[in-house]
Amino acid sequence: MHFTKSFVAAVAFALASNFVVEASPIPSKAVEAYAPMGERKFTAEEIDHHEGLFKRAFPGVNNWNCKPSAARPRAVILVHGLIGSEDTNWAYMSPRFLAEGYCVYALTYGQLPGIPLIAGLDKIETSAGQLSTFIDKVLASTNTTKVDLVGHSQGSLMPRYYLKNLGGASKVNKFAAFGTIAYGTTLLGIAPFLTGLGLYDPIKKIVDPICKSCFQFLAGSPFLTELNNGGDTVPGVSYHFIQSQYDEVVTPYTSGRLRDNNPLVKNIKLQDLCALDLSEHAFQMLDPIVFHSVNAFLSPSEDQTINCLDALR
Ligand SMILES: *[C@@H]1O[C@H](CO)[C@@H](O)[C@H](O)[C@H]1NC(C)=O
Repeated sequence: MHFTKSFVAAVAFALASNFVVEASPIPSKAVEAYAPMGERKFTAEEIDHHEGLFKRAFPGVNNWNCKPSAARPRAVILVHGLIGSEDTNWAYMSPRFLAEGYCVYALTYGQLPGIPLIAGLDKIETSAGQLSTFIDKVLASTNTTKVDLVGHSQGSLMPRYYLKNLGGASKVNKFAAFGTIAYGTTLLGIAPFLTGLGLYDPIKKIVDPICKSCFQFLAGSPFLTELNNGGDTVPGVSYHFIQSQYDEVVTPYTSGRLRDNNPLVKNIKLQDLCALDLSEHAFQMLDPIVFHSVNAFLSPSEDQTINCLDALR
């Protein structure tokens, strides 16, 4: 494919302007109040106040009166990543899914007591239980039997525990995810490096109380070994897993691919959709190409050709 210089510039601008506009979804006052983390104690009122800001989904999301339409027959549930929340992770994609006519829901999972503003920290098994409760609530509210999931980062992994171990396979139709973690990360080789230095266990002891999920993401962790044992997918669910070659959190990025020989599984390299797309791990949640790829997967009536032009719409 040949791109003119101005076309390349337009795509680059479209991608970059999304990042700038959407990169600070937490009200800056809330952030200032918590800086520097760890140096001050919070009153219960302060924590409640900021939790209220942080756990407020985008307007229109979590509308418990929404009824799915014939064109969008299933609710879409957004599953955030590590240190994300129902609000911060989805400031860009929530309004876009709403504009497409879906009933959109988002949860905040895996919070640890006394740690405000960031979530996804608890054990993945515990978070999957919270997802299960949330999905049942959405199914009852929408009077449907299945939902579709859209996950980022940990949101690509935690739901797989739900699908495999908590009865989720019968309640999910499609599972789209980006910045996927399927087989864990070496964190740019840091994990094997620490093991080599004999520092793996001491550091794990320090990190575990503030992030119980963190070591579960590492390639070869007992959690991942168990989760992927006997196959990484469940029958009946369609998977659309997107990885970026520029991902600096999931390394190597290919470890984000599902490996089952299952006709309902599609792994997509973001740069195969658009070679100009530079999104790394976090920026994928602000990426119009990722959004349109997921939307096309969820709704087969949509244009299925995804390429650099999707950065402009
Ligand atoms: C729920 O869906 C079922 C089956 O489609 C239908 O028969 C029933 O009337 C619906 N209930 C409500 C409250 O809409």
